[in-house]
Amino acid sequence: MCGIIGFTGGRDAAPILIAGLKALEYRGYDSAGIAVAGKKITSVKSVGRISALEKKLDETTLVGDCGIGHTRWATHGCPTEENCHPHMSADGKFAVVHNGIIENDKELRALVRAAGIEPISDTDSEIVAHLLSLYYDGDPVVALGRTVSRLKGSFALGVLCADHPDEIYAAKMRSPLLIGYGDGTCLSSDGTAMPQSINEITVLADGQTARLTKNGATVYFRGRQVQCERTKLKSSRRAAGLSGYPHYMIKEMYEQPEAIARTISSECRGKRAGLRGTGVSLIGCGSSYNAALSCRPMLERVTGRSVDVALAGEFLYSERVPAYGRQCILLSQSGETADTISAAEEAKRRGYGTLAITNVHASTLTRTCDDYLCTRAGPEISVATTKGFTTQVAALGLLAGNEFAAAVKELPGLAEKALRASEGLKDSAVKFDNAGCVFFMGRGADYGAALEGALKLKEISYIPAIGIAAGELKHGSISLIEKGTPVIAVCTDDRLIGKSLLSIATVKTRGGFVIGVTSSPEVAAACDEAVMLPPVHPMLSAAVSVIPLQRLAYEVALRLGRDIDKPRNLAKSVTVE
Ligand code: AGP
Repeated sequence: MCGIIGFTGGRDAAPILIAGLKALEYRGYDSAGIAVAGKKITSVKSVGRISALEKKLDETTLVGDCGIGHTRWATHGCPTEENCHPHMSADGKFAVVHNGIIENDKELRALVRAAGIEPISDTDSEIVAHLLSLYYDGDPVVALGRTVSRLKGSFALGVLCADHPDEIYAAKMRSPLLIGYGDGTCLSSDGTAMPQSINEITVLADGQTARLTKNGATVYFRGRQVQCERTKLKSSRRAAGLSGYPHYMIKEMYEQPEAIARTISSECRGKRAGLRGTGVSLIGCGSSYNAALSCRPMLERVTGRSVDVALAGEFLYSERVPAYGRQCILLSQSGETADTISAAEEAKRRGYGTLAITNVHASTLTRTCDDYLCTRAGPEISVATTKGFTTQVAALGLLAGNEFAAAVKELPGLAEKALRASEGLKDSAVKFDNAGCVFFMGRGADYGAALEGALKLKEISYIPAIGIAAGELKHGSISLIEKGTPVIAVCTDDRLIGKSLLSIATVKTRGGFVIGVTSSPEVAAACDEAVMLPPVHPMLSAAVSVIPLQRLAYEVALRLGRDIDKPRNLAKSVTVE
């Protein structure tokens, strides 16, 4: 979603801001802008891609050593230049970039209007700029402290003040914000956007504000200066290049064997990060939910109890009576998904234990939960997650303990084989040219993989797709099957071959075109086409069977000429509920 970059460092800021915005593109955005402080604050904004912003910059002079930039994913108001950040205060004194949602926007808008200022955009963020100028009496840090004391909701703020053109001011509440140090000082919502000259970072905590100069930063909490830990900016947090691949999605797909190997070989987890308690709930959104669902049978096997799997956004409204000793495991690749963070907070309020499984150790979810297990998949740039999903399955396999240890160890090698087996799907993509709707069906762990396959196809190809438990098809959705409807049948569990054959025959009888993803020659023979997988433990199989589904989505989207790494309307981490 929205991304923030800021830089002050005794050299031209605009190129550094643009490079930072490009590194933030993967988060998803629909407009972007930068502001630079010179004799006065000047800004350039544009709807659409950063390349459009660059074109406008060619026609503008934006000189200054200190500036802020933003990629915006529209929430309050359409993607227009007025709504695009940075927002200026009416007197031109302050420029603001903001990630998050100001919940009391209406009330503050009225306050600003009462002071004689008419906002020019629909955004909650613009109001912050006006408040800063209203509360300013010469010290921008004081004005920022007063302003944030009025804000309800979540915010990461980057601020310029025309009276102090070498400084950036920052504030953080429930939305990530980092300060980077090196040759110059940087502000960003995301380590991947920091320039190469930055080698250390401070992760700001909720309630902190900061003043950044070219030589470093001073951090404050409730008006008092505080000492903050600096840590090395690991190269793994920086966005790696495409390394010769045409898209990040395919690059990240091929990184899966290595990423899974890192997940299972490292001990990047808190001391008490294990399965514990009297019952387990798995909670996540999108692919993280699908990964959790695919592992339910395994966790039910090891805990001997039924395991809940909940969508984070729905968990908040469940009426469950607090059960002493229940453990909630919250899965999130980014660790910044607002629904999942709120679910973790709700779980804590109800007295449950909380364990975060994330790919980003320094994330809000890791900090919110009692304990953590880090998947160490490396930065994931493609909006459509691939290695995020498979490493989550591997991490749940780790938690499942000894009974699954041998099967977990095999996963990197099996993922490698699945990648090779999927290469032939390039030729199958043609079958999807006129597809009205595509089905993905499976049972048990294969059902989680089927849901994920459908999500991948929808996300990047924009073709309607339905992930369905194979047994459910006949209860209604089968009415959509007609001649040529593509149906992907996932079957990795030998115990389910008979039933899978029946489902496949039912589809074929109605003219469906079936592509099998299976380790069973018998199932493969019953399909129109098949990807042969190596045999895999049926309770961990989603880490392997999902790989051909990722590849299929990729090839279909490629044929259709879609913007694969940055699909329309989507954001990498969804930081609003
Ligand atoms: C996956 O391809 C999607 N981009 C999306 O469903 C994602 O998995 C979901 O938003 C959750 O993200 P998280 O794992 O970072 O919490």
